[in-house]
Amino acid sequence: MKYERSIIITGGAGFIGSHVVRLFVRKYPDYRIINLDKLTYAGNLENLRDIENEPNYRFCRLDVCDLEAVTALMKEENVDGIIHLAAESHVDRSIRDPFIFARTNVLGTLSMLQAARLCWEPKAYEGCRFYHISTDEVFGALEMTRPEGGKDGRGPYGSKLFKEDTPYNPHSPYSASKASSDHFVRAFHDTYGLPAVITNCSNNYGPYQFPEKLVPLFINNIRTRKNLPVYGKGENVRDWLYVEDHARAIDLIFHRGTPGDSYNIGGFNEWKNIDVVKLLIKTTDRVLGRPEGADDDLITYVTDRAGHDLRYAIDSSKLKTELGWEPSLQFEEGMEKTVRWYLENEKWLERVTSGDYLRYYEQMYGAK
Ligand code: NAD
Ligand code: DAU
Repeated sequence: MKYERSIIITGGAGFIGSHVVRLFVRKYPDYRIINLDKLTYAGNLENLRDIENEPNYRFCRLDVCDLEAVTALMKEENVDGIIHLAAESHVDRSIRDPFIFARTNVLGTLSMLQAARLCWEPKAYEGCRFYHISTDEVFGALEMTRPEGGKDGRGPYGSKLFKEDTPYNPHSPYSASKASSDHFVRAFHDTYGLPAVITNCSNNYGPYQFPEKLVPLFINNIRTRKNLPVYGKGENVRDWLYVEDHARAIDLIFHRGTPGDSYNIGGFNEWKNIDVVKLLIKTTDRVLGRPEGADDDLITYVTDRAGHDLRYAIDSSKLKTELGWEPSLQFEEGMEKTVRWYLENEKWLERVTSGDYLRYYEQMYGAK
């Protein structure tokens, strides 16, 4: 079959990537969707069981750093679009092992950019698009000038928000590697004319997130009655967005965003970590039929994360004004959906936390 477009989505077996792959495979049957993923500990093909047999979908186990193999795949599939999500994504891991973050996030992005350039420069980039998924963490931390919050004790917790032109000021090895990759993307646009677009998104939550991140880790710990390790005093503020709303924004920006531009994506939804944790306990206990307050004693304050950014808050008004995107879910509603999903998918959680899914790959694809 001749496809209208042929798109590589890197990191498609991860949390956000799996939602983007699912959306594109289903919404665009005339597009060839190639999921390029190395399947690290964070990649899980079980996240895509429901679409893995669709005729327009293909999975390729590849490392984004493998320029030769990526270029060959692009030529074979006549690729005209790349949505680049593959990355090492967990801040705590970056503090323990920064080198893998530089390799995957910086060199891996450079390799994807170079592959795109090699394949597309000869045709003057006609009809091509490189979309790089980045994070709000590149902007550094905002001040908390209003610790009591706004109306009904919620955010905003300060007057400043991250805008597209906020200067980069990363603090963790993770955010430094993402900032560096963003600079390479801009450099390829400015130097070689690569039609590239970048988005910087806030904290995502929802189904299929690896349970090392706050939301799924804590739902799992409440479920199994384990301690909830809150870093510092739990005062840090994050801006939360339901993952399917992020995937919708990616679809819109991939098709209609302006090359050379960047867009902020966020929920206008600032929460202190401790309030997120209390909401998680309340929701999980209610869904499990436990009495209210039954698991409040699981909250355990632990040593703070090194270099822990105090507050992130995104101004996504450019995306709303230019492309009409808005988040669709209230936080409480999104959290309820999320909690229910993890509790209904205990097997997924258990296989991921036990590492069983990694043994499955070894049988299918050989040891890494
Ligand atoms: P994730 O850790 O869940 O998934 C990452 C995926 O990339 C995995 O499938 C993994 O196997 C794959 N991968 C890692 N190294 C690879 C390599 N060398 N070659 C090929 N594939 C490789 O990550 P996520 O949370 O879904 O984040 C996806 C992207 O979105 C990242 O670029 C991240 O920086 C960005 N982002 C994440 C959030 C968030 O809240 N999770 C928010 C904003 C931006
Ligand atoms: O802001 C976007 C970023 O959001 C993405 O770029 C990252 O890929 C993604 O991992 C996420 O980073 P965070 O560090 O904000 O997410 P995490 O879930 O690790 O932590 C959320 C907050 O909760 C943070 O302030 C640290 C705190 N925390 C986290 C864990 C895992 C705890 O207090 N205890 C914990 O055990």
